[in-house]
Amino acid sequence: METNNSREIFKTRLGFLLIAAGCAVGIGNVWRFPYIVGQYGGAYFVLLYIFFLLAVGIPLLTVELALGRASRSSIARCYENLEEKGALWHHNKWWQFSGNYILMAFYVVVAGWFLYYFLAFAGGDIPKQINRDDAGANFGALLGEPDTMFYCVLATVAISFAIVALGVVKGVERFTKPLMVILTLLLLFMAVRSCTLDGFSEGVSFYLSPDFSELEDNLGEAIWAAMGQAFFTLSVGFGAIAIFGSYMSNRHRILNEAIFIASFDTIVALLSGFVIFPACFTYGINPDAGPNLLFITMAVVFSNMSFGNFWGAMFFLFMLIAALSTMIAVFENMIAGCMELFKWTRVKAVVINFFFVIALSLLPMLGFNVLSFVHIIGSNTGILDFFDFLVSNNILPIGSVVFVLFVCAKNGMRWERFIEECNIGQGFTMPKALLFYFKYILTTLIVVVLAVGYFKIFGRA
Ligand code: TRP
Repeated sequence: METNNSREIFKTRLGFLLIAAGCAVGIGNVWRFPYIVGQYGGAYFVLLYIFFLLAVGIPLLTVELALGRASRSSIARCYENLEEKGALWHHNKWWQFSGNYILMAFYVVVAGWFLYYFLAFAGGDIPKQINRDDAGANFGALLGEPDTMFYCVLATVAISFAIVALGVVKGVERFTKPLMVILTLLLLFMAVRSCTLDGFSEGVSFYLSPDFSELEDNLGEAIWAAMGQAFFTLSVGFGAIAIFGSYMSNRHRILNEAIFIASFDTIVALLSGFVIFPACFTYGINPDAGPNLLFITMAVVFSNMSFGNFWGAMFFLFMLIAALSTMIAVFENMIAGCMELFKWTRVKAVVINFFFVIALSLLPMLGFNVLSFVHIIGSNTGILDFFDFLVSNNILPIGSVVFVLFVCAKNGMRWERFIEECNIGQGFTMPKALLFYFKYILTTLIVVVLAVGYFKIFGRA
């Protein structure tokens, strides 16, 4: 028997892989990755990132998948199911579980912006040949209007929760699989078309040609950014991946699945840059850093392109699907967690969480208008940035260290059991000899990033 109690198991392996990849592929790939690559010296940064993907990302994915599959439960019960009697590991579940909510509070706001821009292009509402100032004013107007933003956020959250309400196989698996196929096709189509643009070579060389001088100036910061990106984009740190391990079958080894998820995620991230940068250079617009890159720069690009409404709608649909597949995955984690923690039914958990997520999202939303005087981590930042900081710079790295120590600990899962779990089924073997690496090197690396991140944010003030 593959499961204790009546837990659902994904119908197909492809379903599992695409859903875990759908959780990983999100705004981290389609927006954050391209712009930080441009910022930190192109190809060298990509190499640094790949180093961290292999050194930190894939090991952490295996840890989360093994925790989920061995315990057949979410973060809400996985510690209890695996630890020795009397051990205290399970207290970590509370703050780790809260990561889902803090992440979604700001994530859904960005998803709402995608929906807004998708509808605006699809409906032909963006005027032709606008310049940067016009585009900036449009985006500024959206941020200044809590009601428009609220309706967009409400729509994306409602759709995602409705899918989760249908269950793991009938909802999450049935909808995410086709969404991920559409996402891949849209991306390939746009990337191929990007090769035909006049600015293709200039865009690609900005994106990928190594600019060593830039890296030399801020190597420490680039290393920090590369590792942070690996955590965020792979969704490791608070059990978002573990939940899919818990619905996974025993047929394939965990390392194989982790490598697939990391590779798919990286390919989507790289290709997104191929879509964005050539388009910017074709229209003579310097790709800016930050949120501007998508909502101002790309809006200018599409409004100046022939058939711009079509391309703009496609581009933002792609962004929207990436965000929705992540939201469905994270909502599933919340729902499974609440069902296990409070013994709620799925429908009850969906209803309560729906209202809770909407209420939380009001804070970052209002941070752009009514609450714009709130600056917690620096004068240029708002509530959205603060939530991002809580998750990316605190919960993810600390949560990852806790997970790694837990699988190594004698009163936790124990290393032998972890290796055994990884090596059930067919595929690559996880070597037992990696204990030293996991216990000492991996954890030290993560703690160093955490410290550098703090220094970067608070040390300068
Ligand atoms: N990986 C997602 C992205 O790239 C974000 C995400 C989803 C996430 N679930 C997570 C990040 C859990 C950290 C932890 O957009």
